[in-house]
Amino acid sequence: MSIRSKIKSLDKIAPLPTIAQKVLGLADDFSASAQKLGELIKMDQALTGRILRVANSSFFGFSRKIGNVDLAVAILGFNEVTMITLASCLANDYSIKENPHFPRREFWMHSIGTGQIARKLSDLIPDVYSNNAFVAGLLHDFGKVVLNQFFPDEFSAVLRTALEQKRSLNQVSKELLKIDHTEIGQMIIEEWNLPPTLIKAIRFHHDPHEADEEDYLVHITHLANILCHHVKFGISGNPLPDKPCAISIDVLGLKDKDLDEIWSELNVDLESIKTFL
Ligand SMILES: [Fe+2]
Ligand SMILES: [Fe+2]
Repeated sequence: MSIRSKIKSLDKIAPLPTIAQKVLGLADDFSASAQKLGELIKMDQALTGRILRVANSSFFGFSRKIGNVDLAVAILGFNEVTMITLASCLANDYSIKENPHFPRREFWMHSIGTGQIARKLSDLIPDVYSNNAFVAGLLHDFGKVVLNQFFPDEFSAVLRTALEQKRSLNQVSKELLKIDHTEIGQMIIEEWNLPPTLIKAIRFHHDPHEADEEDYLVHITHLANILCHHVKFGISGNPLPDKPCAISIDVLGLKDKDLDEIWSELNVDLESIKTFL
């Protein structure tokens, strides 16, 4: 049976951690109150601790000590705390299998890093909601988590081969498994009932030329992923990162700028992401 049919036959491919699911539900509901978010977080002691650690980190640079969740939500705002909660829930889900070829912490540094860069890039396009850009970056490689969880031997072989032959992980994955993480990611995100713009961003982040120019989130996620590789933050398992697609660069109004220039203008703080993990 192919991996594609095996995934389709799984009852639930990769359930979102319950809190992340509820938080995503809130993020979509504009009438949701900050109070509800605070209550959700407080139900989980470990999460509460992590939120306070991030809130008090140099990531935000507040001089005043934030000692409880309600204050964190009040000071940082609903959006910010929603994003921290999501990233923190996914990255600290210890039911995920350890794999020496696919180090968990470094993988989530890559994912949260791409989310943060995507959020900054979204400022370039007024039509894009920055939370969606963050979530697209955060989840862009989630298909790899599923491969690692359900097909660890096959995925390790793909990671090893790509590394040995210095080839794109996606190409090797399509060759050996007849599927890649973008297609698996799409299958999961569809199951999670996330918005179509997010589904597209995950499906086409390595092939932005297959999307429309107006699929801004695709172009943002594509470039954010490349920038995260460019500054060598975290590990994605792909030894041969993409080159920026000319269409994406155009859409984002970054023509004639190289990656170093784009990076220095964006001014993203990646180091403090480590406090999420
Ligand atoms: Fe990817
Ligand atoms: Fe990536």
